[in-house]
Amino acid sequence: MRRVIAGNWKMHQGPAATQAFFRKFLPGYQAAPDRVVLFFPPAVSLAAARDAMRAREDIELGVQNVHWEIEGAFTGEISAEMAAEAGARFVLVGHSERRHVFGETDDDTRRKVAAVLRAGLLPMLCVGETIEQRRAGRVDEVILGQLEAATASLSREELGLLALAYEPVWAIGTGETATPEDASVAHAALRRWLAERGAEEVPILYGGSVKPENAAQLLSAPEVDGVLVGGASLDPEGFAAIASS
Ligand code: PGA
Repeated sequence: MRRVIAGNWKMHQGPAATQAFFRKFLPGYQAAPDRVVLFFPPAVSLAAARDAMRAREDIELGVQNVHWEIEGAFTGEISAEMAAEAGARFVLVGHSERRHVFGETDDDTRRKVAAVLRAGLLPMLCVGETIEQRRAGRVDEVILGQLEAATASLSREELGLLALAYEPVWAIGTGETATPEDASVAHAALRRWLAERGAEEVPILYGGSVKPENAAQLLSAPEVDGVLVGGASLDPEGFAAIASS
């Protein structure tokens, strides 16, 4: 399975900063056939990102969020179809900031996953527990519950199109990282769930304070197929080092 190194820029880097980023990132990134690099810039920077790396087939683009309708009176939203037309191939769904800052529910994630597939794009579904849920021993229950809810209406073929990101909420933007062992345990539970449904090939990424210093160790942990990097993906040299590791 190809490693997936993904950068979630969150609400950072407009079009000019995006161009500047790729001017520095591209020379530093050593492409290899065993990996794919994927960026989630803000939607308004997608065109700049696409232009900056034209003809690089080993780098993919996505958006961080879509609405589930095709079009309509939903001020401020974009549809998966629009994201596809603008050059996205992937869509993040269910990121913990969407869930906790914007109140997105499991049912919203289910509708968004379906909309992404309807538009011919690929969902990267994020799941993860809070620190309270971890302390209460509820990690599997929470992450498998989120996975189950978001994929309830999918066929086996559709399930196979997903990418999954395990992102413990307590590790996102906190500098605190799950140990490679913690990540492997959670990923193994997700993998079992997927395998029972004939979708064991779905890549499972780890996210949460991934940095150049810890990326290689996390990437070599059992069941970890890639990393989803937030803060550290904004630094072109550092992210090139992660992507080349
Ligand atoms: P972080 O964010 O790397 O800044 O912790 C990860 C994410 O939110 O995807």
